[in-house]
Amino acid sequence: MPEKKILIVDADVASRNFIARILIDQQFDVIQAGSGKEGLICAWRDHPDLAILDPNLADLKGEDIAIKLRRDARTAKLPLIALSSDSSTSRIKSCLDAGYSEYITKSGQAVQTLNETISRFLGLAAVSEKKGGSLMMFLSAKGGTGTSSICANTAMNISKDQPDARVVVVDMVLPIGSIASIVGYEGTQNLVTITDMPPGITTPKFFKDELPDMNIWGFHLLAGSPDPESSNHIKAGRIWDIVLALKESYDYVLIDIGRSLSKITFPLLQKADVVALVISTDISAISLTKTLWEYLLAKGVGASSVYTILNRAVGLEGLSKVDVEKTLGIPVMATLPYLSSNFAFANSHHQPFTLKFPKDSATFIFVEVAKEMISLARKLRDQ
Ligand SMILES: Nc1ncnc2c1ncn2[C@@H]1O[C@H](COP(=O)(O)OP(=O)(O)OP(=O)(O)O)[C@@H](O)[C@H]1O
Ligand SMILES: [Mg+2]
Repeated sequence: MPEKKILIVDADVASRNFIARILIDQQFDVIQAGSGKEGLICAWRDHPDLAILDPNLADLKGEDIAIKLRRDARTAKLPLIALSSDSSTSRIKSCLDAGYSEYITKSGQAVQTLNETISRFLGLAAVSEKKGGSLMMFLSAKGGTGTSSICANTAMNISKDQPDARVVVVDMVLPIGSIASIVGYEGTQNLVTITDMPPGITTPKFFKDELPDMNIWGFHLLAGSPDPESSNHIKAGRIWDIVLALKESYDYVLIDIGRSLSKITFPLLQKADVVALVISTDISAISLTKTLWEYLLAKGVGASSVYTILNRAVGLEGLSKVDVEKTLGIPVMATLPYLSSNFAFANSHHQPFTLKFPKDSATFIFVEVAKEMISLARKLRDQ
């Protein structure tokens, strides 16, 4: 299925363009109409997934448009949002009575309310419903911080800690994923091929049966984009449905986004049960991490859902845990020591670090990280 299509009907070009820009930035396919008649034609002809209408149009009354749309089988169930500068109770009531699904007043809060309403109607909200598997996202502010290695090894330890649980790792790092090479997957299935499949195929059962089992790693894998060219073809609009289906068939859905914080991955962070933020001890990366942290909080990612992992990936130099906590103003929940070439060695043999080096102190840290992330996800669910 292509991206979700949204129809905007508003006589005011500036207002229409403003909303259109916001929606296009979120990867929606946007159709615009400047009059009621044009809006009706687009609604019936172009099959939008949702429509936003300013009910104050010159040619047709907003209420009459809703009545017409509701009477026609093609648009009887179309989510219909009234976006209006009229905040009178009588107008709100008459619009809702006529068949609008929601009425939003044009104000300072309108964009946020509109985004939330669209997400709710288009199913993105379902990703955040406190049901299905726990969604755990892994990210960092800088490349080469160890995010992918930590994601794969945490998934392995979650599966070891919970032998009956079903665990899946999804590689959403763009433009090239690396989890496949860490775990030794050589198949051709990946995020690009999966997003290209029709929604009717990518059901929870499909993901349960068809995702490859990584054996000693204890998890199933949805591999990432194999090369930059392929990543240009990822159908972003399919991601929500896919994550939702994965949550239905797996108890733990771990997604590596590395530093690919984008319009595609960001909404998932907002919906995640736990966000694992991998922090580098590299001094030059600290300000980047601070910026990322502030951005996450400003955008509504709950500080309590962030699990911070300090990883000494670059060697023995760099900042200490105390330095990092002081500079960032956030607690570090786990610290992985510098493992010299051992981590790279385990990765190049496609083996979990914990199995390759069972006596290493880092093995115990991985076991702890997995347990703590499981319990954090449970605690937040119970709230
Ligand atoms: N604590 C550590 N000690 C030693 N080497 C490490 C440590 N953590 C990670 N590495 C090594 O650093 C390299 C990069 O790791 P990885 O690919 O997991 O990082 P990444 O943040 O996912 O990078 P990318 O930006 O490419 O996605 C790997 O060779 C890995 O083995
Ligand atoms: Mg990576």
